[in-house]
Amino acid sequence: MTAAVLGVIGGSGVYDLPGLEDIREEAIASPWGEPSDAVRIGRIGQTKVVFLARHGRGHRLSPSGINYRANIDVLKRAGVTDIVAISACGSFRNELHPGLFVLVDQFVDRTHGRASSFFGNGCVAHVPFAHPVGPNLQKRIVDAAAAEEITVHKGGTYVCMEGPQFSSLAESKTYKAAGYDVIGMTNLPEAKLAREAEITFATIAMVTDFDCWHPNHDDVDVASVVAVARANADRAARLVARLARDFPSEREDCPAGSHRALDGAIMTAESH
Ligand code: ADE
Repeated sequence: MTAAVLGVIGGSGVYDLPGLEDIREEAIASPWGEPSDAVRIGRIGQTKVVFLARHGRGHRLSPSGINYRANIDVLKRAGVTDIVAISACGSFRNELHPGLFVLVDQFVDRTHGRASSFFGNGCVAHVPFAHPVGPNLQKRIVDAAAAEEITVHKGGTYVCMEGPQFSSLAESKTYKAAGYDVIGMTNLPEAKLAREAEITFATIAMVTDFDCWHPNHDDVDVASVVAVARANADRAARLVARLARDFPSEREDCPAGSHRALDGAIMTAESH
């Protein structure tokens, strides 16, 4: 049996986790380089929780400058079996309004040049990624939201852009026409690397704005993202705290195969 450990990655406006108890801070070293910050290890109820601020304290790191490999690696080294990533995002749908939490389950990659794999020349591996989000973990978030009376929207496609500039109007309209639901700059490398690390992954995408396609809303800017993210950080923390309190003590098998993603995925010969 593997003890379940919940990892929480906090995004813009979410730099710590109220409700975390018995906290110790640990700067875990990684061969992949510097993670965004020291992790804070504690517990909520009986569940061990490991928190990492994606952009570092004081929001020092831009989406392109984050060392995603080091971040996922230090969470793995801390024993994390399941990650919940909290990410601010823009919305392409009227009904996905600012303040709503969208539990996305698909991703589209519009980043370029990011180090988004632990594998490469020397050790080649291709993990399945058709279903990036762990359905059981997502269901637990849905149940936690219901228990806390927090409205969430289940399902959706997150397009991950490179940034750091926000989208042009033409890009925004293109993504909307393509049927994508929300946009952000960070979440996809985390989902890919978590899968390679055999960590089950789910996202709480916090809608902060309507990007720039909406005729009746202002174009996105940092002030609006930060204001909405701050206003909803406590609700996100409450949701995660409930999830942690109700979490099983043992790691569950993931229907998307996260817990055994490397089975049969490595192509390089052992004797090589
Ligand atoms: N993060 C929050 N809002 C965003 C937007 N509109 N585009 C990209 N990233 C975002």
